[in-house]
Amino acid sequence: MGTNIRNVQDGFIGEVTGINICAPLTSEQVAVIEKGIDDYAVLTFPGQPLTDEQQVAFTRNFGQLEITLSGQMAKPEERRFQQLELGDISNYAKGDSARMYDRADRKRMYALANRLWHSDASFRAVGAGYTLLHARIVPGKGADTQFADMRAAYDALSAADKAEVENLVCEHSIVFSRQAIGFDDYNPGFDEHLKPVPHKLVITHPKTGRKSLYLSSHIGGIVGWPVPEARAFVRDLTEHATQSRFVYSHKWLVGDLVMWDNRTVMHRATRFDDLKEVRDLRRTSLKGIGLEVKLPQQVAGADAVAA
Ligand code: OGA
Ligand code: MN
Repeated sequence: MGTNIRNVQDGFIGEVTGINICAPLTSEQVAVIEKGIDDYAVLTFPGQPLTDEQQVAFTRNFGQLEITLSGQMAKPEERRFQQLELGDISNYAKGDSARMYDRADRKRMYALANRLWHSDASFRAVGAGYTLLHARIVPGKGADTQFADMRAAYDALSAADKAEVENLVCEHSIVFSRQAIGFDDYNPGFDEHLKPVPHKLVITHPKTGRKSLYLSSHIGGIVGWPVPEARAFVRDLTEHATQSRFVYSHKWLVGDLVMWDNRTVMHRATRFDDLKEVRDLRRTSLKGIGLEVKLPQQVAGADAVAA
């Protein structure tokens, strides 16, 4: 049986079966997945018992792996995995695979911002392209990951609203999303990574030509706008873009791999009993090559923030 993609929700979520992603892929299989994610924006691959190495190898089919900022900022003893490309999305204590974190653990405080709607690494000059999350241990209840379709959200704007957002440029920084939940406990020496970077609010997919809203909780301003006006505007737009008609909630089963395109999708984690139940997901992500969301050089400050 060949690879099949089933439309799970509104041409937004595709479920991929008839493929073993633990093994090396053929170029035809890679092409089917790339087309699938362009068409759908989120792909789920149920029942794939990937090892860490297999997840990294599968991810490499689609581009250059990214090292997350939290991975970069962590000290070696704080890491559970030595491979920096592998993100630790778990409630284990830092660097420990036997003990869960405590209530006030800094790792927990930092990760709680995942509960805000975001696009991965939008605080970088080039944000993440695809993110891949693989479920190793899931809790009995809660902890769905939700996805919102930023293409459908754009399409649903009025003509006047589309015209208003068309040329806006937003400023993104990890500081803004963490500020929103009251976190400011950064390791020293990473100031350069905390500076805002500019991205266009409306981006066009190079292959499908579809426009989407590049929204994220990392946004703290709009170039040329007073900050309070910008934040109120972005809040309204985010509310519009995350209405239930644009949202899918993924209920994790062990062995699920979910892959999404951060340039067309926002996502967020949801609550679970994280001090009592273990949840262990592994994340890989790719540099966002292929969809230019960077601000053109002419806008002041663009050079200074290229990281
Ligand atoms: C992430 C993320 C959501 C979740 O890993 O980037 O946002 O449900 N995770 O863990
Ligand atoms: Mn995320």
